[in-house]
Amino acid sequence: AISEKPAMETLSQSPVVLVQDELKKIAAYKAVEMVKSGMVIGLGTGSTAKHAVDRIGELLRQGKLEDIIGIPTSTKTHEQALSLGIPLSDLDSHPVLDIAIDGADEVDPELNLVKGRGGSLLREKMVEGVCKKFVVIVDESKLVKYIGASGLAMPVEIVPFCWKFTAQRLQEFFEYAGCVAKLRTFASSNGMENCVLPFVTDNGNYLVDLYFKGDIGDLKAASDAILRLAGVVEHGMFLDMATTVVVAGELGVTIKNK
Ligand code: 5RP
Repeated sequence: AISEKPAMETLSQSPVVLVQDELKKIAAYKAVEMVKSGMVIGLGTGSTAKHAVDRIGELLRQGKLEDIIGIPTSTKTHEQALSLGIPLSDLDSHPVLDIAIDGADEVDPELNLVKGRGGSLLREKMVEGVCKKFVVIVDESKLVKYIGASGLAMPVEIVPFCWKFTAQRLQEFFEYAGCVAKLRTFASSNGMENCVLPFVTDNGNYLVDLYFKGDIGDLKAASDAILRLAGVVEHGMFLDMATTVVVAGELGVTIKNK
């Protein structure tokens, strides 16, 4: 059966989170060194990408970057970039980007990624799929031996119509990997009563989070199979897309190139 329980927990601001946030910032700042004046830049979404967008805004304000255009990957990043005075556009006007900088939830040794735990995977995949350089910024906790190994969610964006049916089919497809599919939800309160509502993406869709106990195996085959399911819009496996991964760890920054 498909669970409707909240699939996400709120992180408390523990010291571990604060240290991790410092590492995210270090990775983000390192990546922004690759941004030059005149570039069209994909602006990622999430707590790591937020540092990169802040830094781009700061360099712009200081006059150290000029004539840049940002292409945001979510409404949240759009608002952040607007508030920083970063000139914005979209893929209709700029179908090829010089660079995109974004975080990730998992990075495997071949630089394949899981993205979308922040909920923005569709726009991220559209934007990051057409950039000349896709720089991923992570703290070292995001490095995994294989995709799915973290035991955390691999998100799939689906249409709301008969979502249980689609979630069930995803779970059945990945039965060999011990998959459990959960609708992403959030707790809401109108002051009178508490309720649990589906998380709705910027595109008006739902997210199903897939949790694996075993190895997914052939990622390309899995990707193709997911995308063949009617009802699926996109999934959070970003295969062969990252050109550079900047990893910040306690021992320093490592840059991995494809
Ligand atoms: C959002 C994403 C994020 O990049 C990913 O979830 C990493 O987030 P964070 O930097 O907050 O750890 O894919 O859709």
